[in-house]
Amino acid sequence: MSDLPTVVVGRLLLPAGMEMLTGRCEVRSGGADPTREEILTLVRGAAVIVADPTIAVDEELLAAAGPGLRAVANFAVGYDNIDLEACRGRAVVVTNTPDVLTNATAELALALTLAAARFVSGAERDLRAGHWRGWDPAAYRGLELSGATFGIVGLGRIGGRYGTLLAGFGVDLVYASPRPRPQRAERLGARWVELEDLLRSSDVVSLHAPGTPGNRHMIDARALDLMKESAVLVNTSRGVLVDSEALADALREGRIGAAGLDVFEGEPELPPALAAAPKAVITPHIGSATVKARDAMARTVAENAIAVLEGRDPPNRIA
Ligand code: GLV
Repeated sequence: MSDLPTVVVGRLLLPAGMEMLTGRCEVRSGGADPTREEILTLVRGAAVIVADPTIAVDEELLAAAGPGLRAVANFAVGYDNIDLEACRGRAVVVTNTPDVLTNATAELALALTLAAARFVSGAERDLRAGHWRGWDPAAYRGLELSGATFGIVGLGRIGGRYGTLLAGFGVDLVYASPRPRPQRAERLGARWVELEDLLRSSDVVSLHAPGTPGNRHMIDARALDLMKESAVLVNTSRGVLVDSEALADALREGRIGAAGLDVFEGEPELPPALAAAPKAVITPHIGSATVKARDAMARTVAENAIAVLEGRDPPNRIA
């Protein structure tokens, strides 16, 4: 047994982060697909747990780790998988990985916006299935983004970057958030409005809000009814924000135009209603999945873990 502190990586930490931990601590990893039971066993005696959005950090996990646990370093910017109160109650520090994934996630939001607005997935599916009969003036007519009104829900780092990327399209920008963000909004030329007004007036609604209990089903049947029939809904934040059954109904009944989703309720199982819904482009939670962002996230996780182990304040402390 070495005297080095133990860092337990619930699943995988990429080499960029592992290299930083090597020699400083003993690292145990759960691998690609550990069961909850395996994770509970693995964390015993950990000084730091590296978690990610698939790992619920709750009383049970903290108790399984034991009294030597000093920090949970989340491999993600969102931390709805972590019971912050439980961590505070045990004086366990919590960190996340902001900033380094802002570009990657905003870029995926833009990709989903374009793909959903122009039915890219459905058109390709039809083509591959041999259903295309040739150029058709009436087919696949989508939403033109140039000159459209965009509603950004949550003008934080990622929502703000998404707004910046839209500048080339010459769009009108409105945003809704719990409190106005005057500086960022002024830079983007975005107007603060109530969520209901945003839903009514936007051609594209893009969600960039955290998966807090208060935000659960922010987009429900009523919200979808407020949206334009041609509107595109984009979600790259957390699945709980959107009632997937209500969204599937709205897509099927043509009450909204299209949806681009990187997240959905009950991941990793795609809700059957969404799987069957038309005009939806759906990706498997890959918002931050660029080489650059994921390597930087791994390094950020390691930096935070090392800081706590060395008795320093970690750079990305959230609790
Ligand atoms: C991923 O979902 C993240 O929050 O970083």
